[in-house]
Amino acid sequence: MSRIALGTAQFGVPYGIANQVGQVSRVEAKSILHEAYTGKLDTVDTAIAYGESESCLGEAGINGFKIITKLPGIPAGCKDIRGWVEQQLEASLSRLCTDKIDGLLLHRPEQLLGSNGNILHQSLEGLKDKDLVKKIGISIYSPAELESTINRFRFDIVQAPFNVIDRRLLSTGWLQRLKESGIEIHTRSVFLQGLLLMNQDAIPPKFFPWSGILEKWHAWLRENNISALQASLAFSLSFAQIDRVVVGVDSKNQLLEILKAENCLFNTEIPNFSSEDEKLINPANWPTL
Ligand SMILES: NC(=O)c1ccc[n+]([C@@H]2O[C@H](COP(=O)([O-])OP(=O)(O)OC[C@H]3O[C@@H](n4cnc5c(N)ncnc54)[C@H](OP(=O)(O)O)[C@@H]3O)[C@@H](O)[C@H]2O)c1
Repeated sequence: MSRIALGTAQFGVPYGIANQVGQVSRVEAKSILHEAYTGKLDTVDTAIAYGESESCLGEAGINGFKIITKLPGIPAGCKDIRGWVEQQLEASLSRLCTDKIDGLLLHRPEQLLGSNGNILHQSLEGLKDKDLVKKIGISIYSPAELESTINRFRFDIVQAPFNVIDRRLLSTGWLQRLKESGIEIHTRSVFLQGLLLMNQDAIPPKFFPWSGILEKWHAWLRENNISALQASLAFSLSFAQIDRVVVGVDSKNQLLEILKAENCLFNTEIPNFSSEDEKLINPANWPTL
C-alpha cells in the first residue's frame, strides 16, 4: 500500500499558486480517483470547508478508500455543540454517500483551548463510540499548536504541513514525540502549494524576499539532475514516522507523475533549505498580489 494520500481541496475550490486549470472538473476528479485506486492509494483527504469537494467525492464513488474529512470551527453562539457536531458529520456522510468514515479532524483545533474544548472533544469521542468515525484528530498549521492540545486531549491522527522548506515538525521534535505516543502522522503541503515545483522564471515576484532559498533549491536540483517533484516527495517519504503524505493535484497526469516518482526514489541526501518564516511556509500568509 502506498504512503501517499490524495488531497482533494482542488476538487471543491479553484485554488493553488501553480494551478493552471481552476477547480478540477467532476470528470477529471473521477479519473484521478481511478488512478489513485490503481496506484494503491488508500486514503483520501477532504474537508467540509473545501466547497464541493465532499459532494464531488460522493458522486465519483469512494468505495475502497479511507476517507478523512475535517470539521470547521464551531459557529459563534452555538449552544448545542454535540448536536452541531453530529449534524455536521451527518451532512458530510450524506454528501460523501457513505455511512461511516475513517477519520474526522478538527480544522480549527485552537477551539479546544476555549470554554467548549471538553465538550467538543467528547462529541468527537461520541462519534467513535457510535462507529460513525474510526479515528479522530486535528489539522494544524504549526507544531506550536501541539503543546497545548496533545497534552490535554487524546487524538489518533495529526495532520501538519511538512516539506523541504518547512521542517518544523522535525526540528521541534514533534515528529518523534507523536510517533512515540502512537499517533498517526499525516503531512500535507509537500509541494508548498506547487511553489517548489514551479520553474524559477514562473515564480511570482511576491516571493522575491525568499529568492535566496528558492535559488539554492533549484541550483541543487540542477546539480543533482533530480526533478523538484521527485526530491520533494523523497524528502517526506524518507521519514518512516510519517504514515501518509497528502498530495494535492489539479489533473490525472500530475497524479501519474507522483506515482511514477514514488516508485523511483533516490538516496541522495537533501541539503537543509529550511525556513521558519511563516510568511513563506504558511500559504495562508502569502501576499495576494
Ligand atoms: N507537475 C506539476 O506541476 C504538479 C504536480 C503535482 C502537484 N502540483 C501542484 O501542487 C499543488 C498541491 O500542492 P501540495 O500538495 O503541496 O498542497 P498544498 O496546496 O500546499 O496544501 C494543500 C492544503 O493547502 C490548504 N489550503 C490553503 N489554501 C487553501 C484554499 N484556498 N482552499 C483550499 N485549501 C487550501 C489546505 O489545507 P487546510 O485545509 O489545512 O487549509 C490543503 O489541504 C497542486 O494544486 C498543483 O498545482 C503540480
